[in-house]
Amino acid sequence: MSRPLINCKIGPSILNADLSEIYAESQRLLDSGADYLHLDVMDGHFVPNLTFGHPVVKCLKKKLPQAFFDMHMMVADPEKWIEPIADAGAEQYTFHIEAAADPLQVIRKIKEAGMKAGVGLKPGTSVESVVPLIEHVDLVLIMTVEPGFGGQKFMTDMMSKVEYLRSTYRNLDIEVDGGVGPNTIELCGKAGANLIVSGTAITASDEPKQVISYLRKSVEESLLKFHP
Ligand code: DX5
Ligand code: ZN
Repeated sequence: MSRPLINCKIGPSILNADLSEIYAESQRLLDSGADYLHLDVMDGHFVPNLTFGHPVVKCLKKKLPQAFFDMHMMVADPEKWIEPIADAGAEQYTFHIEAAADPLQVIRKIKEAGMKAGVGLKPGTSVESVVPLIEHVDLVLIMTVEPGFGGQKFMTDMMSKVEYLRSTYRNLDIEVDGGVGPNTIELCGKAGANLIVSGTAITASDEPKQVISYLRKSVEESLLKFHP
């Protein structure tokens, strides 16, 4: 796949926001400078937690037709939800490599459904396992916490995966997710991440706009090292 030069994008996760206000919270994040919304779908099997699924996503999309929905599918059967999530209007579908018996088939179906395809790695999964998929996907998601809950501590040792990917794939979109905020963003940017998911650090702040612009500035400075 030929790829354009990478850009920094900030995608807040609404997981730890007030979910009774999912539309208002999403709008607030977009108004604060979010480039996309990172929506965490959990099925109680792949991870020990439940969130929301395609019916909620479909309602949210109707209210936010211009927003880019980055679906983080923490589900045991990633193929099963491709059609419903595409029908709900999402733009991007990231599944976990650990959950897919045939990842290439999952990627093909995501694309057939008209979405961008991402593949995610849990902390215990080696970065080498994703290499055969890279030419087929739009992004690789490196989890920096065990998926399942917001507000966990950032795992610094995951940065070696990001460094490896960035040094090998100059223009690959690399997303980090979990415990990312002003205190950890420099590590992410220096390692080469360019798609930044941040939940609690943004949604719990009284100044989400300042947090988003701080994250962006930090990553943009670091990216100069890779694309001077
Ligand atoms: C964890 C989710 C993340 C996470 C982000 O399973 O995939 O998107 O909730 O939230 P923070 O930034 O609070 O870790
Ligand atoms: Zn996520």
